[in-house]
Amino acid sequence: MVTVNLDQVMAQPVNLDTAAFPPLTNDLYLRAARGEPTERAPVWCMRQAGRYLPEFRAIRVENEFFKVCRTPALATEVTVQPIRRYAGLLDAAIIFSDILVIPQAMGMVVQMVPGKGPHLPEPLRSPEDLHRLTDKQPGYSVDKELDYVYRAITNTRHALEGQVPLLGFVGAPWTLMAYMVEGGGSKTFALAKSWLFKHPVASHELLTRIADVAAEFLVGQIRAGAQAVQVFESWAGELGPQDFAAFSLPYLARIAAHVKAKYPDVPMTVFAKGAHYALEQLAADTLYDVISLDWTVDPAVARSRVDAAVQGRRTVVLQGNLDPTVLFGDEQTIRERTREMCRAFGTQNHIANLGHGMMPSHDPELLRVFLESVHEASRT
Ligand code: CP3
Repeated sequence: MVTVNLDQVMAQPVNLDTAAFPPLTNDLYLRAARGEPTERAPVWCMRQAGRYLPEFRAIRVENEFFKVCRTPALATEVTVQPIRRYAGLLDAAIIFSDILVIPQAMGMVVQMVPGKGPHLPEPLRSPEDLHRLTDKQPGYSVDKELDYVYRAITNTRHALEGQVPLLGFVGAPWTLMAYMVEGGGSKTFALAKSWLFKHPVASHELLTRIADVAAEFLVGQIRAGAQAVQVFESWAGELGPQDFAAFSLPYLARIAAHVKAKYPDVPMTVFAKGAHYALEQLAADTLYDVISLDWTVDPAVARSRVDAAVQGRRTVVLQGNLDPTVLFGDEQTIRERTREMCRAFGTQNHIANLGHGMMPSHDPELLRVFLESVHEASRT
């Protein structure tokens, strides 16, 4: 039984001191992300804070999604929930927020509709609509718009008490453009993709503007206490190789270049879901330390392609990539498939994860089986 005492959560003092964070006692994730030797692969999960956890749902009953994001005590509580539940098994926490806070911060209305997902009631229908975005208005400040995320990060760093590092994140430009043009999720992305071909100049302007907001936002997250960051290009796979090269890769590279110029030692991960064709370019033409793989890529093949692309010039770490639906199988299947995955990646330069996020219908106890299996299987 999980009980959440909301009054107690809200009564927690918020600590916004960025000068003195508790010392980190588990730095496995950070060492692996920097390509340093590790005694086993670190493990965490995309969407590890979410609706599959009853303690998360208990918070959400009384608090709208973006209210949780905007209230440091609540964002901290849900970020720490999986760390608490899987004590000693997770090697990183990811700040509770959403990729769609950037469209909001650029002046768009974003609603989270229960059972349907994100909804933007006034999407960008034509290039003239770019004038509605606020990021070029005089006095505009990314840091002011997204200060609530920084506060959540700083407070969470204190609440984690150094147990695991805290990850920040942003959505990548193409994925965010897709939401901003479609007004929500989509099966075909017909509207967003038609922009690329009908309005290539306006598309590049929009992608550049999103990239610049995202890059500044990541810098702010690191300043606030994020110890590593991940960029989610969730809809990369909607683009073929040629359009990925034109409309996604340059902006992913631009974000990494901007952040690395300020914080060269903070590990950066890129998750370009579905862009298996672009592994070489992600490895050779960007500064990301870690490439996160979905489950459609064979780990050994990815390893050899990435190594061939960088030719020993740098170490590229791979993250992933168990098919999340394997967690709908029984314990023995999960153990076997996790062991096979860890063996295929090898014990070094690997951060274990799922190939995409946890789903609301997942059983929390079967995630535990996955985490335990990584601990057993990846030990050197
Ligand atoms: O634990 C974590 O990973 C941190 C928090 C996090 C959320 N969203 C919380 C969330 C992160 C990193 C994201 C990123 C995100 N958001 C992505 C990129 C990763 C991916 O899955 O590809 C995308 C595409 C989104 C957009 C988004 N937000 C969608 C499509 C949905 C609806 C999902 C659904 O099934 O309805 C959200 C809402 C959302 N973001 C939830 C959570 C826990 C569930 C909403 C709720 O609580 O009602």
